[in-house]
Amino acid sequence: MLQELNSIENVSHNLLIHAIKADITTLNVDAIVNAANSSLLGGAGVDGAIHRAAGPELLRECRALGGCPTGEAKITKGYRLPTTFVIHTVGPVWHGGNYGEAALLASCYCNSLKLAIEHHCCTIAFPSISTGVYGYPIEQATTIAISTIRDELKNKSSIKEVLFCCFSDHDLEVYRKALCSS
Ligand code: AR6
Repeated sequence: MLQELNSIENVSHNLLIHAIKADITTLNVDAIVNAANSSLLGGAGVDGAIHRAAGPELLRECRALGGCPTGEAKITKGYRLPTTFVIHTVGPVWHGGNYGEAALLASCYCNSLKLAIEHHCCTIAFPSISTGVYGYPIEQATTIAISTIRDELKNKSSIKEVLFCCFSDHDLEVYRKALCSS
């Protein structure tokens, strides 16, 4: 609880940005973001967990989307998940940092927020995109996630709460420090 309180911040116009440790499939928010691959047909990590929890209807809707390029995002319903929407975005694979990874990761956050706002979402939860199977260093990815979201939400929008949903104590600590210090 103390950790969570430490990482809550007010940016402006009653926007809350905070980090929690949780399984994203359990969150009762308007939209959760999926760290997908460009096929949008499921995979390991958070993608696998979301598809398992949402049920086969999610895969059916994803099949009709025709994939998604890296850095872009597509939206579906949440089916058996507590969330209304799943926003599927494709993060970059880490190749050492000189292959446009930072810009692509930032555009995942931008494009996901755009879709959430278009669908009038108030609450949205992000996993730590690209930092699992795709190998993006967590500290660098966290800096990009926080700065991009602050920048995108500096003007008033439907979004009132952004949750960074961490899956380990270490990741939570990285987000907590970054939120407190930046
Ligand atoms: N809730 C929240 N976070 C989770 C969960 C969960 N249930 N499960 C894992 N994470 P990853 P990527 C965290 O590998 O690096 C898939 O196969 C995990 O600990 O899921 O973008 C896709 O199909 C890590 O911090 O996504 C792609 O092929 C974060 O989610 C590829 O992996 C992201 O790890 C995408 O790789």
